[in-house]
Amino acid sequence: MKIIKRKFPRTRLRRTRMKSFSRKMVSENILKQNDLVWPVFLTEELKMKSEIKSMPNVYLYHIEILLKELEILVKLGLNAIALFPHITNDKKDDQGSYALNKDNFIFEAVRRIKKEYPHIGVICDVALDPYTSHAHDGVISNGEVNNDDSLEKLIEQALLLADSGCDIIAPSDMMDGRIGMIRSHLEKYNHQEIMIMSYAAKYSSSLYGPFRNAINAANLVEPFDKKSYQMDIANVDEAIHEIAMDINEGADMIMIKPGLPYLDIIAKAKEIFSMPTFAYQVSGEYSMLVSAIERGFLNKRDSVYESMICFKRAGADGIFTYFAPYLLDKLNQ
Ligand code: PBG
Repeated sequence: MKIIKRKFPRTRLRRTRMKSFSRKMVSENILKQNDLVWPVFLTEELKMKSEIKSMPNVYLYHIEILLKELEILVKLGLNAIALFPHITNDKKDDQGSYALNKDNFIFEAVRRIKKEYPHIGVICDVALDPYTSHAHDGVISNGEVNNDDSLEKLIEQALLLADSGCDIIAPSDMMDGRIGMIRSHLEKYNHQEIMIMSYAAKYSSSLYGPFRNAINAANLVEPFDKKSYQMDIANVDEAIHEIAMDINEGADMIMIKPGLPYLDIIAKAKEIFSMPTFAYQVSGEYSMLVSAIERGFLNKRDSVYESMICFKRAGADGIFTYFAPYLLDKLNQ
């Protein structure tokens, strides 16, 4: 027998990679149906669904059509949806009044979904941007988005959404103090059970463009950006500070947004707070991937799945993604 004299590594990491079964044995993260939250755009205008130009395969739904589609998706394991209303200009004003109008179709939509699919989690955005003529998340006074005036409206919006049966209130407006105020009002008005998922670290990102077009909130008037309330893309410490405050004020879950380019924040937040942590793969991320897929530069299944596993690896407990219907279908194959 020939004795091997060469000193060779005892540890060969390729051993476990060699076979499919052992790769599966050592795999550290997996995507499940329950990890996915499907963001949905709702309109009362159309009796049909219409495709959003900048987001191929993403649609604006009339509630009747959505209810029908949910039947299939629920069978595939859909666990939660996040609703975003598309409001026509005639219903907008500088105060975002329609957000607090009891006839607003979003309230009826929540009731219908909860009635027909009681087991689906319904998450509702709290912010005024779909409703204001200036497209800001709050109200403006003296040329600035006014924090405390906006809070009053956001609290009322949250209470109305809670009344309509929504399970999770998700404030995405980034006003200071909103989580604490919403939490104390939910307690006061007998909505102790309603969860708050705070968009805790939400950056002033260029990646929300397709979303703003989708919900008819793209035409920001002065101030022309959301930098006075959404976070500076350069900051990390500030994100941790924001998240700590929101948890302290009563958030049950936290959200980091955007997603893939901000995995460092997700990983850090999870490590520091050990809280239920969610990522939002936002519209611009969706459109980037889809553009490359449509041009044949990327393989759809591989690239979309990879993006999801990266979120999980970073520590996200769940992901808001427009790919949810696609992924649910694939996960069931
Ligand atoms: C509204 C809101 C936005 C998104 C979610 N809620 C847009 C914004 O803050 O300008 C973005 C979602 C996406 O881009 O997919 N406050």
